Order: sequence, then C-alpha cells, then structure tokens
Amino acid sequence: MKRVLTAKDLSAMGIGAIIGTGIFVLTGIVANEKAGPAVVISFIIASIVAGLAALSYAEMACLVPIAGSAYTYTYATCGELLAWIIGWDLILEYLVGAATVSVGFSHYLSAFFEDAFGYHPIKELMEAPFSYKNDVFDLTQSWFSVPSFVIVLLLTAILCRGVKSSARVNNVLVVIKVIVILVFIFGSASHVDKKNFDPFIPPNKGAFGEFGGSGILRGATVVFFAFIGFDAISTAAQEARNPQRDLPIGIGFSLVFCTILYIATSVVMMGVVPYTKIAGPDVSDAPFKVVANATHQRWLAIFCEVGILAGLVSVMLVLLLGQPRIFFSMAVDGLFPQFATKLHPKYKTPVITTAMSGFLVATAGGLLPVSLLADLTSVGTLFAFFLVHCSVLILRWREPHRERRFKVPLGPVLPILGALSCVGLIAVDSVSAIIRLIIWLAIGLVFYFFYGRRHSRLNNPEKYATPDHMTVVNEGQSHHANIEVKQSEQPLYRLEPGQEHKV
Ligand code: ALA
Repeated sequence: MKRVLTAKDLSAMGIGAIIGTGIFVLTGIVANEKAGPAVVISFIIASIVAGLAALSYAEMACLVPIAGSAYTYTYATCGELLAWIIGWDLILEYLVGAATVSVGFSHYLSAFFEDAFGYHPIKELMEAPFSYKNDVFDLTQSWFSVPSFVIVLLLTAILCRGVKSSARVNNVLVVIKVIVILVFIFGSASHVDKKNFDPFIPPNKGAFGEFGGSGILRGATVVFFAFIGFDAISTAAQEARNPQRDLPIGIGFSLVFCTILYIATSVVMMGVVPYTKIAGPDVSDAPFKVVANATHQRWLAIFCEVGILAGLVSVMLVLLLGQPRIFFSMAVDGLFPQFATKLHPKYKTPVITTAMSGFLVATAGGLLPVSLLADLTSVGTLFAFFLVHCSVLILRWREPHRERRFKVPLGPVLPILGALSCVGLIAVDSVSAIIRLIIWLAIGLVFYFFYGRRHSRLNNPEKYATPDHMTVVNEGQSHHANIEVKQSEQPLYRLEPGQEHKV
C-alpha cells in the first residue's frame, strides 16, 4: 500500500466517521433521561475513553502491517479465540451501530417533512413499535420504521455493486457536517438562557441511576456511541506517510475537534431548551429540530435536517461496508462459514454477507428503539476496545522487541487505564445491558466451539493448505472512512501467529 495519507487526511477520515447519530440524536435523549445539562460532562468522559482506545488501536495497526480491523490484528498476533471474540463483538459496533444510525435518519426525515412541507408523515410507519427508557420497554402505537428499513436496503444495494473510492466525497461530507453544527451553534447561541442550566446536575432519582453522578456516567456509556468511528483512522495506519507522527496527530485532532463541537452543541442545546423538554414521548427525537423550532428559525431547522440526512448516510455506509469485510476475514480463517468469502463475479464485492448484513440492520432499524440500539452498540464496542487494550499489553509482554512504528506513550500505563476505563463504563451501565452483552458473547462462544474451532484454518491446516484460489484482497476496511472498496487480484495474504509478516 502506498504511504500517502497525511495527518490532515487522517483527521478528515476520523471526523467523517465519528459525527452522526450520537450528537444529532442521542444528546437529547441522554440529557432528558440520564444526565440533564451535565450531558456535557458525559461527552468529556466518553471522549477520554475513546482517546485511550484509539491510541491502543493505532499501536496494533502499526504493529501488524496489513489492512484490517481489530479482528485481523488480533488474529495475527494473539490467536483465534481472542480474535473470534473481538470479531463477534464488532458485529455490535458495525451492524447494531448502523441500525442505530438508521433510526436517527428516520427521525430527521420526519423532521424534514414537517419543517419543509408542513407534512406530518404517518407516525405508525416512522417509528419502532416500542420504546425503551431506563430499562423499561413500552408500546409506542407505531408499527415499523419504514425509512430506516428502506434507507439501509438502498445503501446495501449500492454497496453490493461496489462503491468507488472517494476521499473527496468524504471531505465534502465532513465539511457539510461541520458547517451544519457550526451554523446550529451560532444560529442558536443568542437564545441561550442561563436558567436552563440550573440545576446543571439534576439530583439522582434512584433505582435506574437517572441524573446525579451515576446518570452522568451512564450517559457517558451511551454517548460513547458518538465517538465510534475513530478506529477508521487507525485502520489506515499503513497508508499513513509517517504513522509515528501523523497517527497520534490525526487521532488527537479529530477527537479533540469532535469533542469541542459536541460540547459546544450540547451546551447550546441545553441552554435553549430545558432538558425536560429536549426529548420525551411527545417531543421529536430530532433535537436539532426541537432547538430550531424553539427559536422559531424554520430555515435553521431545514438547513440542519438536510445536512444531517446526508451526514448520516455517510456514517451508515462506513459501518455497512466494514461488517462484510470482517466476516470475510473471519471466513478466510475458517471461523465463519465459507459463503462469506464468495464475491460477486462482476462487482467483486462480498455480496452475500453484504445483503445479509443489510437485511439484519434494516430489520433491527425498523423494529428497535434508538436508545436500546445505541446502548447495545456502545457496550459491545467498549468490550471490543477493552480486548484491544489487552492485546496491546499481551504483545508488549510477549514480543517486546518487535518494531512498533507507533507506540502508546508512558509504557503500559495508558493501555491499562484504557482497559479499566472501558470496563468502568460497561460496569456503570444497567444490569440488563451487561446481561445482554454476556448473552451475546455466550452465543458467540457457542458458535466458536461448535463451528469455528472445528473448521478453523489453524486446526485444519491441510484443508487450507493452498488458499491461493482465493484471489481477492478487500481493503475496504482500511479505507472505510473514505467509503472505498478496493479490489486487487493478488493472492490473499495470510498470516499465522508467529509467522513473518508478508503481504
Ligand atoms: N459515531 C457515529 C455516530 O454518532 C457512529 O453516528
């Protein structure tokens, strides 16, 4: 791979993948249900956890000079079981994450119709059939979120045909998203009323930890979702011109930049509309709309809604593109059924898994409420990042002399702090969220012991002795912030633990 990416490219890549439903939708929900105006503090906590994870991710990415995700790095270095767990867990990041963003899309589509044309779409067809708040499910009298379903299927069809490279499109989308946020902030700032910040941390209400200190922490777990996507930067490690210098700059810049935008946005949001009214059963789940309507600026509402819809499409593409590539890598290692390696004869895309992932995401987006999906995604991703920190520590210990083009500073301190911070954010979430994660991992382990272990490449070397018939290297993962799928006709690279790295 050519080393062409500069710190600026890496930063744009990160910002493009990061900004999405997290800030555009979850800010309102978390403020309303968990943290009040102190959602600002939740964002700061989540950004620190994300920053530590990004550093460890970057070290892994530079250590294993192949394109890929945390799954690939771990497989090449720590063996198949740990890799399987990470890969299985990443499904929560990519698939459930994409479903979460699709629900955000549906909210803003309704908002756009209302503000632009005064037309209220049929509610029954715009929302999931039930809501989820503080561990309690409730019926919503809706049936299905049709826009979430349709948009995901449309994007899936596009991805099946293959998306050509476009760093330029990514840059345009980054600029649109940043402009939307800046216009929102400057357009609403003069309407901020200090009274709305009092109390800044509403008193804790008990059983489910709403508000107070525990509400802020639980809020941080959910808004962690808003930072997901930064891993895109680290996965481009091998294309960075000077990874040692540019990766930390790219990661640091995009995270600090997004954190500042997020803080400014949430401060303005909380200052204009009381946290009790920013979301809730009778309020639109599109907080940018709620704020623009409260300040009677229809143009601002419409402007933001259009930009947000475009921005959310780009985040969905990134996530929908990533998942089939992970299935592909897992299948090549024999841990996942071989159909995942099948490529469309003409478009050379992993069409079966793309379609399968798309259908699952579309259905989840149509049926499940955004707060549940976001919580699942955040907890799952936090666990995957915990394992990435562990892999960094294991490798430092096992192979201390291997060349690391980028090394997390301060010895093992930051990876240890990072691992603890991930576990900490999972631990403060509700018991049911933790149980859901355990069930998910348990299903994964059953799959591994009944399928993966029996079919794996490592346990059946003879079966996989000549993998050269597989002729496609899919590098989409390393570029995924650019919405890029590259195909090449070289033999698939293979790595065994301990084997010399060759591409
Ligand atoms: N961080 C991305 C978002 O907020 C996934 O939508």
